[in-house]
Amino acid sequence: MSKTYENLMDAFAGESQANRKYLAFAKKAEAEGFKQIAKLFRAAAEAETVHAHNHLREAKGIKSTKENLEEAISGETFEFKDMYPGMIEDAKAEALNGAMKSFVYANEVEKIHAELYKKALAGMGSNPDVDYYVCQVCGNTVEGEAPDECPICGAKKQAFKKVA
Ligand SMILES: [Fe+2]
Ligand SMILES: [Fe+2]
Repeated sequence: MSKTYENLMDAFAGESQANRKYLAFAKKAEAEGFKQIAKLFRAAAEAETVHAHNHLREAKGIKSTKENLEEAISGETFEFKDMYPGMIEDAKAEALNGAMKSFVYANEVEKIHAELYKKALAGMGSNPDVDYYVCQVCGNTVEGEAPDECPICGAKKQAFKKVA
């Protein structure tokens, strides 16, 4: 990999993180009553997404949908098989319960993502028109309709946001 390809992927990672960080900062600014600052964080977050997508495109990281689904399946599988289990153990050993819960939620949901992607890959071109709902507490991703209670974190139906 050339230096520039490496730089593109490093920059992609950094810009992606800045995007999510600024959205979290915007929520905090809203909660503290700083509406204008919240808007600025959201504007910069939007720009970081443009940068991240540009970098990823130039790094040739966006392929056909079939290849992208395959990559997504292997990424999710790596996370729930190799990445999160060790992190959960470390958090347990350090008695950091909030972190442990955060890892457990992600670990459980990555399994669901891998299955949804596999199903999408198997049915490519004939995927039925279904809605997706995302639990705003644990990230649980549900097809069809939001459940009365999230099977992963126990949140109520209202915690699920429909994906546009
Ligand atoms: Fe995932
Ligand atoms: Fe949940």
